[in-house]
Amino acid sequence: MANFFHYKILAAIIFFAWITTFQTNQFINNNSCRIPDPDPFEADLMKNFNRLSYKPCTLLQPLTYVEYNEYTESYVLYINESVIETYVKIDLEFAVQPDVSLDCCYMSVIRRNENKIEMEECEGFKSSVELPNKLDGFIVRCRLNGKLIYTNGHATVPERVQLRQRLSNWTAAAGGRARPSVLLIGIDTMSRQNLRRAMPDTHRYMEANNWFEMAGYNKVANHTFPNLLPFLTGLNLTSVLKTCNPYLFAGLDKCNFIWQLYSELGYVTAFGEDDVAINTFNYRKHGFWERPVDYYMRPYLMAAEHWLDKTERADYQQCLGYVHTSEHVYNYALEFTRRYRNDSYFGMFWTNTHSHNAILYQSSAMDKYMVEFLQRLVRQGTMEHSVVILLSDHGVRRGGSNQTRLSWLEDRQPMLFIWLPGYLRQQQPELVDALRKNRNRLTNPFDLYMTLKHLLALSGRSTREMYTSAADCAQCQSLLLPVSPTRRCADVAIADHWCTCGKI
Ligand SMILES: *[C@@H]1O[C@H](CO)[C@@H](O)[C@H](O)[C@H]1NC(C)=O
Ligand SMILES: *[C@@H]1O[C@H](CO)[C@@H](O)[C@H](O)[C@H]1NC(C)=O
Ligand SMILES: *[C@@H]1O[C@H](CO)[C@@H](O)[C@H](O)[C@H]1NC(C)=O
Ligand SMILES: *[C@@H]1O[C@H](CO)[C@@H](O)[C@H](O)[C@H]1NC(C)=O
Ligand SMILES: *[C@@H]1O[C@H](CO)[C@@H](O)[C@H](O)[C@H]1NC(C)=O
Ligand SMILES: *[C@@H]1O[C@H](CO)[C@@H](O)[C@H](O)[C@H]1NC(C)=O
Ligand SMILES: *[C@@H]1O[C@H](CO)[C@@H](O)[C@H](O)[C@H]1NC(C)=O
Repeated sequence: MANFFHYKILAAIIFFAWITTFQTNQFINNNSCRIPDPDPFEADLMKNFNRLSYKPCTLLQPLTYVEYNEYTESYVLYINESVIETYVKIDLEFAVQPDVSLDCCYMSVIRRNENKIEMEECEGFKSSVELPNKLDGFIVRCRLNGKLIYTNGHATVPERVQLRQRLSNWTAAAGGRARPSVLLIGIDTMSRQNLRRAMPDTHRYMEANNWFEMAGYNKVANHTFPNLLPFLTGLNLTSVLKTCNPYLFAGLDKCNFIWQLYSELGYVTAFGEDDVAINTFNYRKHGFWERPVDYYMRPYLMAAEHWLDKTERADYQQCLGYVHTSEHVYNYALEFTRRYRNDSYFGMFWTNTHSHNAILYQSSAMDKYMVEFLQRLVRQGTMEHSVVILLSDHGVRRGGSNQTRLSWLEDRQPMLFIWLPGYLRQQQPELVDALRKNRNRLTNPFDLYMTLKHLLALSGRSTREMYTSAADCAQCQSLLLPVSPTRRCADVAIADHWCTCGKI
């Protein structure tokens, strides 16, 4: 009896402590929406959290590299002469021979359709060769005394006359003003809580460098595709199935993607996503009939996945050739933004391979890499003129009875961080105020859609578009304007099932 009494008191104390913790940790505190902010480092969860360190895919330097030549406006493919010797040495068969002959050739990748590529004949070259302005990248192979010793891929961002005209027409029309550009970097399955756990350096880097977090960013659907549609089209899945059904042949081409609007207003556009089998627009869907953007990485990655060594390692660091699969996408993002740094661009780059396995610590291996990636963007001047958005679609989804209150919340709270270039912060401090306020407001992917439209209006190239609301969320708005603190899920197309307000 006495034991039972004590048990009840203890339970009451625990319950009280639980409630108090929630109340002090709430980051959205209004009668209309209270989202709790539990400790992402819960002891239970950390027990099985094995922090990984980055492991290079190989210690060998690639035998070839490409460089863009500003004067000839084309890429040059080089053999790195200083590493030939290491390739010779690793194989005794060659090391003892007095003469070694190295024969290299490159094949152009040609996109036939969304699921089919063709390779052109392998063109031999000696120490370097000017690459043709082909859009879809190259596969390079080398033989040493007839034996295949090297296969690698190079994705390029070649110059295109039509495109250059579009860019300069609009730049001229805007009196030389070509800003701001937009760069979206997506990491699949990354909640704001798991970013702190798995990629603490990346999180700290953004905090220390005045990125704006939208801490009340609430997903609106279950999987990747329906959580990306809202910010790419302003539509939800129901509407997309009606107007531009991805399950029908060439269906998706009928969607009005935000990158089309950018393209129509004189921006150059790009999209890249790793792991072609599970690509957002292709997994169990038809993908695009026409190339959806100016620079579309999919054909190159299809070739790379076909020709290059692909290894799935026990510690979840997937390699494709000489680097991790995701690095192909990050490198392409760097090259695209570097090549068009003096122009207006919209680029979206999404990675699956280091995060989508739903193992919470998987991305820890890429934490330092990610910081370096952001620093490389800084060094090449990208942050000076681009709005950079680091985001995800949802958190790890552990359905059923195994869900803790933390994992329930994580599923629904993908990370969203926004970088605003310095000149915009200076010229329009009200944008900074809004982003600060909105940290603790309920927001969603439809708001991000409105933000992307707002950014177009800031370029001076559109005004009207900024005010037409997202078709499936009339009350959603740009995150560069203050969001109402009294917002409720029902106001902004967040179904009760996904709503994080006041649930736990
Ligand atoms: C909720 O927001 C409204 C509008 O800003 C404010 O008047 C009210 O005091 C807030 N309520 C709480 C509990 O913070
Ligand atoms: C060529 O290889 C050397 C290592 O042998 C490396 O230091 C250098 O960065 C490589 N050059 C390029 C342009 O990749
Ligand atoms: C650029 O402007 C020229 C002259 O007005 C026009 O002929 C051309 O079609 C435009 N090109 C593009 C790609 O918009
Ligand atoms: C969401 O997806 C998960 C994993 O595929 C599934 O188990 C769950 O039933 C889905 N939930 C809803 C509401 O569709
Ligand atoms: C951008 O403009 C700067 C200054 O005019 C120039 O030095 C740089 O080479 C240009 N970059 C590119 C990629 O065109
Ligand atoms: C629930 O958790 C247990 C223990 O961690 C695990 O063995 C089981 O597979 C999980 N069930 C589901 C449906 O995730
Ligand atoms: C999509 O939006 C329409 C209203 O625009 C609504 O009727 C429909 O229920 C929404 N579908 C989903 C899956 O939320």
